[in-house]
Amino acid sequence: MVDYVVYGRGSFNQLDEILAPQRKSGAPIIFLVDHFFDGKPLAERVPVRGNDKVIFIDVTHEPKTSYVDKIVQELKIEFGTVSGIIGIGGGSVMDFAKAVSLMINNPGSAADYQGWDLVKNPGVYKAGIPTLSGTGAEVSRTTVLTGPTKKLGMNSDFTPFNQILLDPDLTANAPANQRFYTGMDCYIHCIESLHGTYLNEFSKSYGEKALQLCQKVFVEKNEWDNESGEKLMMASYAGGMSIAYSQVGVAHAVSYGLSYLLGTKHGIGNCIVFDKLEQFYPDGVYEFKMMVEKNKIEIPQHITKGLSDEQFDKMINVSLGMKPIWENALGKDWEKIMTRERLRRLYEKL
Ligand SMILES: NC(=O)c1ccc[n+]([C@@H]2O[C@H](COP(=O)([O-])OP(=O)(O)OC[C@H]3O[C@@H](n4cnc5c(N)ncnc54)[C@H](O)[C@@H]3O)[C@@H](O)[C@H]2O)c1
Ligand SMILES: [Fe+2]
Repeated sequence: MVDYVVYGRGSFNQLDEILAPQRKSGAPIIFLVDHFFDGKPLAERVPVRGNDKVIFIDVTHEPKTSYVDKIVQELKIEFGTVSGIIGIGGGSVMDFAKAVSLMINNPGSAADYQGWDLVKNPGVYKAGIPTLSGTGAEVSRTTVLTGPTKKLGMNSDFTPFNQILLDPDLTANAPANQRFYTGMDCYIHCIESLHGTYLNEFSKSYGEKALQLCQKVFVEKNEWDNESGEKLMMASYAGGMSIAYSQVGVAHAVSYGLSYLLGTKHGIGNCIVFDKLEQFYPDGVYEFKMMVEKNKIEIPQHITKGLSDEQFDKMINVSLGMKPIWENALGKDWEKIMTRERLRRLYEKL
């Protein structure tokens, strides 16, 4: 779990004070900041001291192991070691920061550690500061990376942040579409966790709360306001805690395939898939369609039209490789339920 949590509007102003005890003489703090904030007021508020460095991270594509390796290499050459890595951004930058922190203290490439419990050494001090709410990356024990052969996280006990700072002000100006897609990642986490076979009281307690907060924001309220930002930030936290002790489900397993082949981003990819999952999550999909309409969001259609058999096969292979996810979603006999043919038909509908 995350060691320390600070929550509150305006809490970003406490960052300097929070980082002070972590500073080791001569070793800088590295701030990895979402490139969206390059030239924006938030970048000016980053508490840079001494030889600290701000690096803007390009998240046009979701984090790749090669990009993580490159930044780690550069930091090692320039500084030897660092006092800490702070990720300020959406799920992509937070995952990026976790991976960089781990790779500073572990040899080889980030690709060597994609899997479960492969990381050998703790990373350097790391903190996460979300600027979008929904992924739960701020609390999870994974960092999702696309490597040369797979899209898979570095799942380990060393992966969670040492500190997170949750300031709803930072999400206030995100575009409505992006806010919805990332918010739906949280909604989908809840539905998948609450309907999964791995469900237990720990996951259920957090999942139910997160679901209720998502419904407040996207079903009950008529417009986005400060309260929406506060509620969605806590929904993301609780939704992340819920899947930490269970697993995601069908939408995630299928959208990983889309993302691997087509580069479809996590939030929107999950929406594209979830929209077609009535067979698996009837109530959730019904409510989802209502939220899409109410919030005037467009979900892309026919994105797999014209793909070759070989391309469909690639997506199917990536998806069926996520065994724990399918087992959570459909039970021990999942391979009999989700056959390659059935999955192909599902991909053709997207
Ligand atoms: N580690 C985990 O447990 C976990 C869980 C779910 C998803 N993820 C990962 O999270 C990523 C998706 O994260 P996301 O949905 O938060 O989006 P994102 O981080 O990919 O960002 C999406 C877009 O929004 C922009 N952006 C970020 N904050 C903004 C703000 N406040 N205002 C305006 N624009 C802003 C970014 O520059 C980017 O263009 C994927 O890489 C996914 O794999 C990780
Ligand atoms: Fe997700």
